Amino acid sequence: MTGKVITVAQQKGGTGKTSLSANLAVCLKNKGKRVAILDTDPQGSLGHWFMARRERLGEDAIDLGFRTASAWGARYEANALAKEYDFVVIDTPPKMGIDGKPAIETADLVVIPVTPSPVDIWATTPTIDMAVSEKKPVLMVLNRASERMRITAETRQALQESGGTLAETVLGNRVLYAEVMHEGYAITEKRPSGPGASEMKKLADEVSKAVR
Ligand SMILES: Nc1ncnc2c1ncn2[C@@H]1O[C@H](COP(=O)(O)OP(=O)(O)OP(=O)(O)O)[C@@H](O)[C@H]1O
Ligand SMILES: [Mg+2]
Repeated sequence: MTGKVITVAQQKGGTGKTSLSANLAVCLKNKGKRVAILDTDPQGSLGHWFMARRERLGEDAIDLGFRTASAWGARYEANALAKEYDFVVIDTPPKMGIDGKPAIETADLVVIPVTPSPVDIWATTPTIDMAVSEKKPVLMVLNRASERMRITAETRQALQESGGTLAETVLGNRVLYAEVMHEGYAITEKRPSGPGASEMKKLADEVSKAVR
């Protein structure tokens, strides 16, 4: 049996790829799955999060697998991890362009975080196109979004017309995402009964269904 590979990708910087990778990984782990994360971004943000987590939990208690890879090595590393883990979550750099192809090729699902703005919608097209040409399912996720704002509705409509699937769950704009990152926590761990935690758990359920 080989595990499923979830690649989190988006050309635009700062849309929530790393936050989503970390939080999804913990939620999937809490569903009783063996989960590894693979950082292919030279910025190493997901690696920093993992190291903070390891510091806090201790080497022996660490509950996620972790590797780094260059863009071209993503496929090789992910395939190796998928032999040991139920899920491999790959974080990718912004502006990855054609270099990002191996991370898309190896994916069972491509998750694209999109913040509500026209710039994000434009930036999403190349990732969708790459996923579609590799025949990979896409799940777009509205992140840092307020349901009350018109731009959220407009972005949702544009994404629904773009050829990928848009997750029903919308992630709100919550400072907690930034706060938990340097402590190596997920928001479901830091504030388990908060609205952010329930959103993230719902999204993890959607991702699990989409990846099957
Ligand atoms: N839902 C959210 N609410 C509030 N802040 C958020 C949310 N998601 C992400 N952030 C914050 O936005 C910033 C960028 O997030 P993150 O690093 O996850 O994006 P990224 O797409 O990985 O960025 P890069 O392209 O540089 O790798 C961080 O400070 C993060 O804490
Ligand atoms: Mg990142």
